[in-house]
Amino acid sequence: MRAGVYDSGVGGLTVVKSLIQHKLFDEIIYFGDTARVPYGIKDKNTITRYSLEALEFFKNFDIDIMIAACNSVSAYAIDELKANAPFKVSGVIKPGVLALKNKIPNREAKILILGTNATINSGKYERLLNTHGYQNIESLAPSLFVPVVEEGLFNGKVLETVMRHYFEGITQPDAIILGCTHFPLISKEIQKFFPKAVLIHSGEAVVEFLEDAFGITETHENTQMKFFASENPDKLKEVAKRWLKD
Ligand code: DGL
Repeated sequence: MRAGVYDSGVGGLTVVKSLIQHKLFDEIIYFGDTARVPYGIKDKNTITRYSLEALEFFKNFDIDIMIAACNSVSAYAIDELKANAPFKVSGVIKPGVLALKNKIPNREAKILILGTNATINSGKYERLLNTHGYQNIESLAPSLFVPVVEEGLFNGKVLETVMRHYFEGITQPDAIILGCTHFPLISKEIQKFFPKAVLIHSGEAVVEFLEDAFGITETHENTQMKFFASENPDKLKEVAKRWLKD
């Protein structure tokens, strides 16, 4: 079984890490649109155009499924991808909401959604959560988290100051949706601010979803990786080596 994993840049590697840990695929082709990251500040038309270009790229490979490991793409372009793809397509938003439903059955629970401007402005998480009965929802776009993570600052004073800026005044949620694939890299620090919250990670959510929705289960093979990027692929490979190492 072969997957194409697509993200605006390196963030989707947090999803790849879960896919590798659960051995869901024999091979993963990763494409990061590093020349045009970040997507989270762009509008629906632009994100959709970029996503359809990525789809054309994946048509060169014999993949079974394309995974849009980017919440901003999942927010704005997933229907267009599904309508044009000759293979299966999965995003990360529906899997995230289903994972939350499994972990937090109480519909009165307070849910905090953290995502990029694109993801939050699309309202897609909120709408889907509403259809499953959740009403107590707060959405936040901590835009500075992405560049701080890109800079490799996964803890320390800078991250702490940025977190305090966004999180001060937010009441303790019961669950937090890490609605941006960069955020699992700083989940320990987010948890320090909100110690009681259950965190929903796109990677783990996708693993559950692929098993339930498509019957994709563990193989006995180790996953072979191929990395592609629209700019500076060596840098992407370097980051992948560090992030995927354990
Ligand atoms: N990977 C993107 C997401 O999950 C975040 C980075 C970006 O803004 O491109 O939304």
